[in-house]
Amino acid sequence: MKLEIITNQNPKPKPDETKLGFGTRFTDHMFNMDYTPDLKWHNPRIEPYGPFTMDPATMVLHYGQGIFEGMKAYRTESGSIQLFRPRDNFKRLNYSARKLCIPDIDVEFALGALKELLRVEKDWVPSAPGTSLYIRPTIIATDPFLGVRASNTYRFFIILSPVGAYYSEGFNPVKIMVTRDHVRAVRGGVGDTKTMGNYAASLLAGQEAHDAGYTQVLWLDGVEQKYVEEVGAMNIFFVVNNALITPALSGSILPGITRDSAIRLAKSWDMPVSEQKISIDEVIAHHNSGLLTEIFGSGTAAVISPVGELKYGDQILKIGDGTVGPIAQKFFDAIMDIQYSRVEDTMGWVEPAV
Ligand code: PLP
Ligand code: COI
Repeated sequence: MKLEIITNQNPKPKPDETKLGFGTRFTDHMFNMDYTPDLKWHNPRIEPYGPFTMDPATMVLHYGQGIFEGMKAYRTESGSIQLFRPRDNFKRLNYSARKLCIPDIDVEFALGALKELLRVEKDWVPSAPGTSLYIRPTIIATDPFLGVRASNTYRFFIILSPVGAYYSEGFNPVKIMVTRDHVRAVRGGVGDTKTMGNYAASLLAGQEAHDAGYTQVLWLDGVEQKYVEEVGAMNIFFVVNNALITPALSGSILPGITRDSAIRLAKSWDMPVSEQKISIDEVIAHHNSGLLTEIFGSGTAAVISPVGELKYGDQILKIGDGTVGPIAQKFFDAIMDIQYSRVEDTMGWVEPAV
């Protein structure tokens, strides 16, 4: 398939790299490709970034048949641009696609198209410390139809956004509220996919946490509301007695690439790491016995996000001493050092983009 490139004749000024925040600015070009039952995926093109015109009956707008990914391009000290485990993101996009009845994409083709887009947009990859170019591949159902069924037509697009820190707290510990009123996902559902409705369904709990003075929620399982699943839109780790515990992938947890990277790094350091069920009662017991020293979230956007306080009903658990714990710091540094090629990539995780 030939990739057409239409250059934007009106490029935008680049933003101040020290004030980026997350997901507010977008580059000059985007990738688009269409799916129809007869032509399959076709017409791949890079064209000026811009709005879509859509029929108001477009299926994704009504039934949420849409999926996305989140990954980043990093500028190294030598000026080169690289990706971190990008095939894992496109494979996960295909996993989400299968669960949402969306036709899958060719991973190598998508990666090639992304690299071409990054070549066109290379000047948009920021170089200030802690910044990167966030990549958002997305597939949406485009049939104009109000019956409930899988769409016959789709649009696959990739947009790019230069970003700094995800949370306004940056890498400082965040306050988290355990939600008892809401669940994010259930076994047999779509919690292990990046489908749009999961994020819509998380908003009210997030808003309630925010109103109570907390940054995000900690999600318990959807059946018994007993076992810890995720924190906000991140996976979660506990440090208990110097060992790492993270909830086992249960079918309702998003299999995070940062989570997998942290587990593999821990194993390479001979740090004990266990993927298991962990109940909120156990977390509280470990805290009360003094064995729970750190909690942190993991995800592409924030990398590692330390938790400084956990609220569960009337109980407030202060985690650590209010500063970033040594193990969260160790993972944060190790993962970013690989992403920015500040150390040798012995894991084979980075790949040149341009
Ligand atoms: N959990 C949810 C619900 C997410 O949306 C994400 C973000 O992608 C993650 C966890 C972390 O996954 P990853 O480390 O692949 O970014
Ligand atoms: C993550 O990268 O950790 C995320 O959850 C991305 C979010 C903006 C959906």
